[in-house]
Amino acid sequence: MRLLVCGGAGFIGSAFVRVRLEDHGDDVVVLDKLTYAGREENLAGLDVGFVHAGIEDAGAVATAIAGVDAVVNFAAETHVDRSISEPDAFVTTHAVGTWVLLEAARAAGVRCLQVSTDEVYGSIEEGSFTESSPLAPSSPYSATKAGADLLVSSYFHTYGLQTVICRGSNNYGPRQYPEKLIPLMVLNALHGDPLPVYGDGMQVRNWLYVEDFARGIGHVLAHGAPGEAYNVGGPDECPNLEVVRRILELTGADESLLTYVKDRPGHDRRYSLGSEKVRALGWEPRVRFADGLEQTVAWYQDNRAWWEPIRSGDYHAYYERQYGSKIKR
Ligand code: NAD
Ligand code: TYD
Repeated sequence: MRLLVCGGAGFIGSAFVRVRLEDHGDDVVVLDKLTYAGREENLAGLDVGFVHAGIEDAGAVATAIAGVDAVVNFAAETHVDRSISEPDAFVTTHAVGTWVLLEAARAAGVRCLQVSTDEVYGSIEEGSFTESSPLAPSSPYSATKAGADLLVSSYFHTYGLQTVICRGSNNYGPRQYPEKLIPLMVLNALHGDPLPVYGDGMQVRNWLYVEDFARGIGHVLAHGAPGEAYNVGGPDECPNLEVVRRILELTGADESLLTYVKDRPGHDRRYSLGSEKVRALGWEPRVRFADGLEQTVAWYQDNRAWWEPIRSGDYHAYYERQYGSKIKR
């Protein structure tokens, strides 16, 4: 297939590109704005075309989409904490950007796969969300992602555009920007810095190894029914505190680094996805959380050249803004 992968220089997008090249021999063009989270290094050594543009740039998108079989949209602002402090870019990329992309797909007659998140359903104390659960997002991140999902569905119903939506649970693995829980804790542990646990640390996430999500998206692209959404959930759930304690063990860092800090406003308590629909298409996750976490910690230990420039660059200013007043030194 010839694929346009928007947001393909990010964490999950680049894992997806790798799977498509290695397992399917696809012809891939990446379109990416290269925000703080997008890195060309994530695509190093891969034989892909690259367009440096935002999905809200109608001209660039119209040119890039011409002649492709499908567009897969990963492009997004992805960090909940940033959506709380600076929501602007979330609205632009998820609402305006997704609309521009859908218009280009409609004009070119190209089918679209929208990459979405379990966070659009909000928090669930018990049981798991199915695809027919109501959307009840809590943060500006999840609200704008839900808006994008609804726009995508509207293009199926109104214009007959061939669309599918994939809602993944919390991903982890190599090349995740260190603002997210797992890489942030790993890097802090390796540096002997405090590990900032929000609130009581008993929030639960449904962890999905990034390559499993990448393969799940490929399954939906190949076998999903137009107009449908598919949950792609990880095999294991785990409270944050357990994740952090395991990272302390795996890195050999001192338990005294564990630091409880003020909770995130509107913090969702638990996410859990039922994935029977995508499992019926033949997908299942291969990596259990205990193994994937160990591999991920080892990857960060072995790939300092990937994260050292991030940690000493813009990320430092972000970290100070986000944690400076929370962590008393
Ligand atoms: P990421 O932050 O690592 O990467 C996002 C990528 O999108 C970056 O390369 C960035 O440069 C690019 N981008 C941002 N705004 C853009 C724009 N306007 N135009 C073009 N490119 C733009 O994010 P990720 O974790 O790889 O997430 C990818 C997708 O998967 C997102 O849509 C996210 O909502 C979804 N998702 C993420 C998770 C998770 O746990 N990380 C779970 C489920 C779903
Ligand atoms: P995060 O990686 O931001 O993903 P999401 O909010 O999209 O689930 O956070 C995962 C969980 O970890 C979430 O419950 C918030 C918590 N968390 C902390 O306790 N401390 C931190 O420094 C971060 C970044 C997250």
